[in-house]
Amino acid sequence: MTASPPLATVRYGLPDEWRTRFTGLAGPDAAPALLSPEVIAAVDDPQEPTALAWTGVDDRGTTLLELTMVGDRPITGAEAVARAVLGELTDRRVDRWAHPASAADDELALRLGLHPDRALHQMRCPLPLDRSSLAVRTFVPGSADEDSWLAVNNRAFAWHPDQGGWDIGRLHGQMAEDWFDAEGFLLHERDGRLAGFCWTKVHPASEADPAMGEIYVIAVDPDFHGQGLGRPMTLAGFDWLADQGLDVGMLYVEATNDAAVATYHGIGMHIHETHKSWTTAGPPPKLDIAP
Ligand SMILES: CC(C)(COP(=O)(O)OP(=O)(O)OC[C@H]1O[C@@H](n2cnc3c(N)ncnc32)[C@H](O)[C@@H]1OP(=O)(O)O)[C@@H](O)C(=O)NCCC(=O)NCCS
Repeated sequence: MTASPPLATVRYGLPDEWRTRFTGLAGPDAAPALLSPEVIAAVDDPQEPTALAWTGVDDRGTTLLELTMVGDRPITGAEAVARAVLGELTDRRVDRWAHPASAADDELALRLGLHPDRALHQMRCPLPLDRSSLAVRTFVPGSADEDSWLAVNNRAFAWHPDQGGWDIGRLHGQMAEDWFDAEGFLLHERDGRLAGFCWTKVHPASEADPAMGEIYVIAVDPDFHGQGLGRPMTLAGFDWLADQGLDVGMLYVEATNDAAVATYHGIGMHIHETHKSWTTAGPPPKLDIAP
């Protein structure tokens, strides 16, 4: 009786012969993680690899399970290689993201015993929408607007995994990006204080998508929640984007953020796709995001 071949071969550090095949498929953003000597990788067939599982790290230091398939194969075919990499990482939390997620990604996560963690909707709308009635002015870089914005952002997003806890360095880092345009960073003041803001970002057309106007970050100060500011604050951002000639509006929102999702549906947005993550750790505590 001959022994069955292993379902996956694991290596610490990606061998050259696998690297050539997978760096192109995984895209340029993945190259640094793939080239890292710390990467743990598994392939289905060392001679003729068609499925690769490998480790990345997110900006908070959490280990990521990344999966790449050759050709048009369903992601569920990555089960054996994914399992092999997870088997090397039992000492820590590992997350897997799918951008966007399909039913096959859900099925794979279930088979791997991963827990659903986050779901982010990408919502879109045709522009222009109804014009906003709200008085807004633009953010002034280098002024007191920076501290006021940080205070409102951190209060409004205290519950949020990525958007809370910003400091001045992170704000300046975003302001130094090529896409930053203070003209599209809108503030609404009430009683002499910042009550809400809408910060936009323009995406040029790509191979996959048309040019899009994104609402990058939007919030109303918790002191002003529930007073009807969310809708006109959002519309103010889309007004500005439509005035730049964009005809597709877009934003990302946590699927559990009921107030925000209701606001966006209310102005005519629809869910275009959903990005999801799963984790080896148990589900996080239920977040209290109600205003
Ligand atoms: C989302 C946010 C901007 C909405 O602003 P707001 O001024 O509090 O909301 P509004 O008073 O304008 O209400 C907007 C809609 O949400 C609904 N809503 C408010 N709270 C809700 C809740 N907890 N669950 C479901 N719907 C809710 C309102 O009924 C209203 O719908 P309607 O127009 O059909 O009546 C605000 O809650 C906020 O800043 N949240 C924290 C930051 C954030 O989540 N930003 C969005 C990231 S994508």
